[in-house]
Amino acid sequence: MNKILSGKVREVYEAGEGRLQIVATDRISAFDVILGSTIPNKGVALTQISNFWFDFTSGIVPNHILSTDVSPRAVLVKKLEMLPYEFIVRGYMFGSLWKEQQAAGEYQLAEKLPAPIVTPAAKNSAGHDENITLEQLRQGLGAAEADKICGICLRLYEACAEYALQKGILIADTKFEFGYDRDGVLTLGDEIFTPDSSRFWSAEEYRTGVSPKSYDKQFVRDWLIGQGLDGVEPGPELPEEIIRTTEGLYKECYRRITGKAEYTI
Ligand SMILES: Nc1ncnc2c1ncn2[C@@H]1O[C@H](COP(=O)(O)OP(=O)(O)O)[C@@H](O)[C@H]1O
Ligand SMILES: [Mg+2]
Repeated sequence: MNKILSGKVREVYEAGEGRLQIVATDRISAFDVILGSTIPNKGVALTQISNFWFDFTSGIVPNHILSTDVSPRAVLVKKLEMLPYEFIVRGYMFGSLWKEQQAAGEYQLAEKLPAPIVTPAAKNSAGHDENITLEQLRQGLGAAEADKICGICLRLYEACAEYALQKGILIADTKFEFGYDRDGVLTLGDEIFTPDSSRFWSAEEYRTGVSPKSYDKQFVRDWLIGQGLDGVEPGPELPEEIIRTTEGLYKECYRRITGKAEYTI
């Protein structure tokens, strides 16, 4: 198969007849840099967590999945004409939203928002995204299409956040990518509700004012910051202990969401 893209984490192959095969590797990136170590079975966790959610949300919006039987870390999907935007849904005050409003002092760190919001970003060719306003999104896509997609994003977030909470995971925020299929049907693509595309917090340990325990890359990000290595290229190797802990977090996340004890390998 012809490789058409090697992303930070995933490899995308042309699979003929308007199809792609997306393979999730065990690479880990943080601060937009691929790190020097891999996390065992991370790609399997990502693929199988995302597959669970695509199935769970298939009644809300059509998605790109054609087959999940290819390999434990790969999916066969419809090749989409991707929109040049990312749709981020936030239920809690954290990350770039926290930075933006910190000075105003209206919220505490990690505080639940009165209602979830969509904060769109424009994808640029360098792979770095730029936050845009809803008005800019409406200008880019047309108001009706922009509002329709934002509505879908909120429905996806609400349905999945409710499910995840029952499993002890609080979905603080998450990112979606959409495209159009050959028939022009709006279709959900990429991966959804994975620890790489979302912030997952431990519901048991969550409280406002502190950075919550996360089932995602926050642990690695915090370690990099502590070492002064955040954003440093080439990405540093991680100590064995950080690799093991991160491996455990991805597995725990998989177990909680899918209800399965072990990866299907
Ligand atoms: N169904 C699809 N059709 C076409 N492109 C897709 C589809 N689903 C995901 N993609 C693209 O495939 C790439 C996945 O690789 P990834 O490792 O996430 O790359 P990146 O480093 O750009 O985030 C992304 O660029 C994503 O937009
Ligand atoms: Mg990506």
